[in-house]
Amino acid sequence: MDEGWWPKPYRIKVVEPIRLPPRAEREKLLAEAGYNVFNLKSTDVYIDLLTDSGTGAMSQAQWAALMEGDEAYAGSRSFELFQEAVQEITGYPYVLPTHQGRAAEHVFFSVAVKAGQIVPNNTHFDTTRANLLALGATPLDLPAPEALEPELDHPFKGNMDLEALEKLLREQGERVPFVMLTLTNNTMAGQPVSLANIRAVSELAHAHGKPLILDAARHAENAFFIGEREPGYAGKSPAEIAREVFALADGCLMSAKKDGLGNIGGFIALKDPDLYERCAERLILWEGFPTYGGLAGRDLAALAVGLREALDPLYLRDRVGQVRWLAEELRALGVPVYWPPGGHAVYVDAARFLPHIPRDQFPGQALVCALYLEGGVRAVEVGSGMLGEAAKMELVRLAIPRRVYTEEHLRHVVGTFARLLEKRKSLRGLRLVQGSGPLRHFRARFSPV
Ligand code: F0G
Repeated sequence: MDEGWWPKPYRIKVVEPIRLPPRAEREKLLAEAGYNVFNLKSTDVYIDLLTDSGTGAMSQAQWAALMEGDEAYAGSRSFELFQEAVQEITGYPYVLPTHQGRAAEHVFFSVAVKAGQIVPNNTHFDTTRANLLALGATPLDLPAPEALEPELDHPFKGNMDLEALEKLLREQGERVPFVMLTLTNNTMAGQPVSLANIRAVSELAHAHGKPLILDAARHAENAFFIGEREPGYAGKSPAEIAREVFALADGCLMSAKKDGLGNIGGFIALKDPDLYERCAERLILWEGFPTYGGLAGRDLAALAVGLREALDPLYLRDRVGQVRWLAEELRALGVPVYWPPGGHAVYVDAARFLPHIPRDQFPGQALVCALYLEGGVRAVEVGSGMLGEAAKMELVRLAIPRRVYTEEHLRHVVGTFARLLEKRKSLRGLRLVQGSGPLRHFRARFSPV
């Protein structure tokens, strides 16, 4: 291509109508929702950027695979196909399906973590944090210092702070059951982790006798960034890079609702047969027999296809390129955007967008509400509302569902921000009136101050 841009590597076969309710209706709906967009109906949302999880469009190959789903309780052919795909992509021999990522966390942590232990990660996602807290363990975030500078242009702001990890393992190693790395680092603006950092974390962990477990929800996007940005990887395919990444770890937990291109699903994949056996027992108790693990056979069949499609370089270029396009448009307008953009979402620095709203009045949540009122756009707060005291930044995430929206939809988001920029001084903060605990953001209620 010499036009400098690429049209999408797919065309649309099935359409889903969407509608923008009138402004007065949006005001009423938001108030009824307690100023928490998790309480809105999806039919009242025009452009839904709440999450990229389970919201992607499946391909015709995935829909075709669905029809061939084998719904046998035990020994399903669909499980075999799923297992083959996971083995091929990760290189790990032992595979357990789960109904989604947090179920993989629940099963694995219940086997591998004890109360009082510390689990380090570049940054824990909210469900990994909450699952560890529920077991009486401490989730410890060790992001590289660059991650906390929203404007600093650095290729791998998802990296782990190696010095901090070394210190932890040296001083409190006996309390650490394993080390985790989240690819890409969702809570830190979806930033990628370099292969050099993954290798260094792997060496450190192994030198202290600790396994390395990946949270691989967005491993394909991470592999794409490695290919694009890390010296020596330009000629390698995302699948080759992913294999190299997985080889450095001892296992992974994955929400297949992201880079599995599924609407539901997840898995645990491991190198260690003993750990696998112990997880399989818990799996039967909580999720189901190890050849379905909380999923229908047809879901497993669709995931077997989706996991491979997510590593297609043309798909990834379109995917990451769409996120970058939105980030560049917003930045050009003067919106303070976390830079560089991550793989699945654009993160806006709400503390700078709304500097007159103090942190205890949730500037991120205020911006989320304003986006809905102004344009029917649903985003999500990743700041004090979601993470409480642990919040290091006040971000608003615009997560882009996979293969769902076109540039025209995203232009509407840009237009909504343009109007908000003009009236931002008039936006007000919020008071938390209901909600507590590490998952309070899902059910919290607010009122305007
Ligand atoms: N790990 C990461 C990095 C995630 O982003 C998520 C989910 C999970 C684990 C849990 O997986 O939802 O399948 O149970 N993230 C979604 C999001 C919900 O909006 O970022 P799950």
